[in-house]
Amino acid sequence: MSKLYNVLLVLCLACGTLGENNYEGYKLYQITPKTEDQVEFLHQLDSNGHFDFLRHSRLLGDNSEVIVAPEIQDFFENTLINFTASGLEYKITVENVREALETETAPNSTNHYQASSSLFTEFVSHAVMNEYLLTLERLYPHIVQVESIGRTFEGRDLLLIKIGANPNNPTILVDAGIHAREWIAPPVALYIINQLVENPANYRLYQNVNWNIIPSLNPDGYEFSRSSTWNRLWRKTRQPNQSSTCIGTDPNRNFEYYWMFAGASADPCDEIYAGPQPFSEPETAALATYALRNRDQIKLYISFHSYGNMILYPWGYTNDLPDNAEELQWLGELAGLAIGRVSTLNSRYVVGSSTNVLYAAAGGSDDWVKGVTGVGLAYTIELPAGGLFGFNPPATSILPIVQETFEGITIFHAYVEAAYSKN
Ligand code: ARG
Ligand code: ZN
Repeated sequence: MSKLYNVLLVLCLACGTLGENNYEGYKLYQITPKTEDQVEFLHQLDSNGHFDFLRHSRLLGDNSEVIVAPEIQDFFENTLINFTASGLEYKITVENVREALETETAPNSTNHYQASSSLFTEFVSHAVMNEYLLTLERLYPHIVQVESIGRTFEGRDLLLIKIGANPNNPTILVDAGIHAREWIAPPVALYIINQLVENPANYRLYQNVNWNIIPSLNPDGYEFSRSSTWNRLWRKTRQPNQSSTCIGTDPNRNFEYYWMFAGASADPCDEIYAGPQPFSEPETAALATYALRNRDQIKLYISFHSYGNMILYPWGYTNDLPDNAEELQWLGELAGLAIGRVSTLNSRYVVGSSTNVLYAAAGGSDDWVKGVTGVGLAYTIELPAGGLFGFNPPATSILPIVQETFEGITIFHAYVEAAYSKN
């Protein structure tokens, strides 16, 4: 393995910083590791930074997808070639990331909320999402309440919508959009809201269970990712860092539970930068404050991400399993099966602890909710992929994805109702 570390050292002398650039000459590699060494090698690159992993292979024979800067492509390819004798396969799936981004992304949408149907035919702005929530509060005051849980670094309101008939009922807390580029996540949250409030057939879903939903938890990052084609793959927040020109923190490494313990970086230029200290980001602090204040009512927490078709539960900081892993596993499997049954996209979900299914990554919201607030059921759901980069499904995929995911949500609801409702 020592040869690998040398390569990494050299790589890092040449390393550029991903993020603030136009991706000219960047390439997307698809790599299929066939040995544990190769899996390990790819993991070294990630915690080393300067590579943007769009997807991680955890299992042998599963693909990794990584964007690599032009100045380190030669080193990178030579290293991969050294591995080919042991069966490693790789191919370049996007020759020029800049060009691909220009053809694949067209964020053009209305600036004002008009009708809920538009929420699922285009990727709307954060402002439109907020207008939608406030419109529902106005139209359905008896079941809807909207609250700001805080402001982002750039001053945007983080709105949470409460849907329910009785504040004492057990509550399901949902957020989406903590990672900016994962555009399919907010529509999934908005569709849950839409179905609960605007589809009378679903009124039973809020009789005995309350819903607290934050559809867009990192709107600064989201709006940045919409602001130009080459910002499309932005993941982090937008708060600047001291003593670095690199901007932003990975909000899903920023929660104060085994912070920086594994799979997180101390380098502000990395995509998985954990921040200068836990809860340095107003967005993560706002969620934490809200969840702590409502810890007694909240029974289940779901955070929507993309991509990979995975239903993950704690822990992300260790491969140990929580005490109620069995419960988390079978409930996750039921939800995944429910989605698979109706899927028109052939979605098949993998269910397991995030360290075991994906990789160790500490400081995630799910770990924090479970470890600190004591809410027993916490999940991260990785939604289906779309587009060349996985994060950019076409707008025509929004509806099929949000609809099938809602089937899984009804399973979580049924369980919370059966297990915790007193009615
Ligand atoms: N893709 C997510 C991330 O990397 C997965 C998070 C799973 N949860 C965790 N605590 N690691 O942030
Ligand atoms: Zn994510």
